[in-house]
Amino acid sequence: MKKIGIGVLGATGMVGQTIIKLMENHPWFEVREVAASEKSAGKTYEEVMVNRWSASEEIPETVRNMKLKDARPGIDCDMVLSALDSSVASVIEKNFAKEGYMVSSNAKNHRMDDDVPLLIPEINHEHLALVERQRKERGWKGFIITDPNCSTIHLCLALKPLVDSFGIEKVAVTTMQAVSGAGYPGVPSMDIIDNVVPFIKEEEEKLETEPLKIFGIEKGMKIHNADMKISAQCNRVSVKYGHMEAVSVKFSRKPGRDEIIKSFEEFSPIKKLGLPSAPKRPVIYKEEENRPQNKLDLNAEGGMASVVGRLRECSIMDYKFVVLGHNLVRGAAGAAILNAELLKAKGYLE
Ligand SMILES: NC(=O)c1ccc[n+]([C@@H]2O[C@H](COP(=O)([O-])OP(=O)(O)OC[C@H]3O[C@@H](n4cnc5c(N)ncnc54)[C@H](OP(=O)(O)O)[C@@H]3O)[C@@H](O)[C@H]2O)c1
Repeated sequence: MKKIGIGVLGATGMVGQTIIKLMENHPWFEVREVAASEKSAGKTYEEVMVNRWSASEEIPETVRNMKLKDARPGIDCDMVLSALDSSVASVIEKNFAKEGYMVSSNAKNHRMDDDVPLLIPEINHEHLALVERQRKERGWKGFIITDPNCSTIHLCLALKPLVDSFGIEKVAVTTMQAVSGAGYPGVPSMDIIDNVVPFIKEEEEKLETEPLKIFGIEKGMKIHNADMKISAQCNRVSVKYGHMEAVSVKFSRKPGRDEIIKSFEEFSPIKKLGLPSAPKRPVIYKEEENRPQNKLDLNAEGGMASVVGRLRECSIMDYKFVVLGHNLVRGAAGAAILNAELLKAKGYLE
């Protein structure tokens, strides 16, 4: 089978390099172009990534000597995955969509646009219907789809089986987020080593609003937001990879503890689609009292799963638990790839 050519925008950043690593040996896609800012354009990928490539594996052979380009339409690929800095993503992604490219984005810029799907395939793949409206109303040949904020993705994956089985009225979530979530070079070392910073710009707003769209119902190419209240507190902690979230939930119908665990374990909604990057078990429950931990559980299902633990009753809400997820894999690069695979499975790339 001829592979679909992918252009990676923002290929030099934390998310961009994770896309390149995950894309090595992909059965459907191959990286055909890499693009970044003017300061990187014209150099080889390897040259620019000296001291920036963060994986223990080498840069994939197929990408190592590729010349970085300006992130402008005209690059030779069937689809682009965007890992652009949010200060430039709005305009660049729109330019690509206008010129007929399909854009699967990690950036925050278009997530809440009324005609842009904010996708987690296991939760809301029917929101893809917005693409038709986007093309029609904007007069574009291409289109933009987005994945949610890295903490939102793991929160929503953990909540989805519970929403389906018991209904959720309220959620309180406190995050402990890794430094790689701030990109490269990110938070200055003098600010974060031996420290916890109880503020991440705009993060709480994202966590409180994005899930309402994600759990919303699509009707007539419009999303009707879910009726749920979320209160979030976000903290940056001195960990390199992985966001931990402490979650309390008030249900519409309070279930038993075993019912909750069963709903996590049985959650496997898109098996039939056969997406290569989809985890077999999107939500994994750990019974041990001191799990999940960043050191032990971050790479479950290759970093594509959300790992839940410490489920117990809550004296204010109904239940509380923790969820841990990889911010760069399922929280960003892997999510954009999975969304691209969903497009292929649904016939958008033909
Ligand atoms: N890190 C995470 O955990 C995470 C999770 C979810 C979503 N996201 C989102 O994903 C995106 C990338 O995040 P990141 O952590 O990878 O950030 P990053 O490490 O700071 O990388 C930013 C990328 O944007 C490129 N860029 C900057 N200015 C540009 C310009 N004027 N024209 C073209 N390219 C430009 C950079 O290229 P140069 O190297 O040439 O400057 C670099 O490749 C952001 O929108 C972020 O909010 C990140």
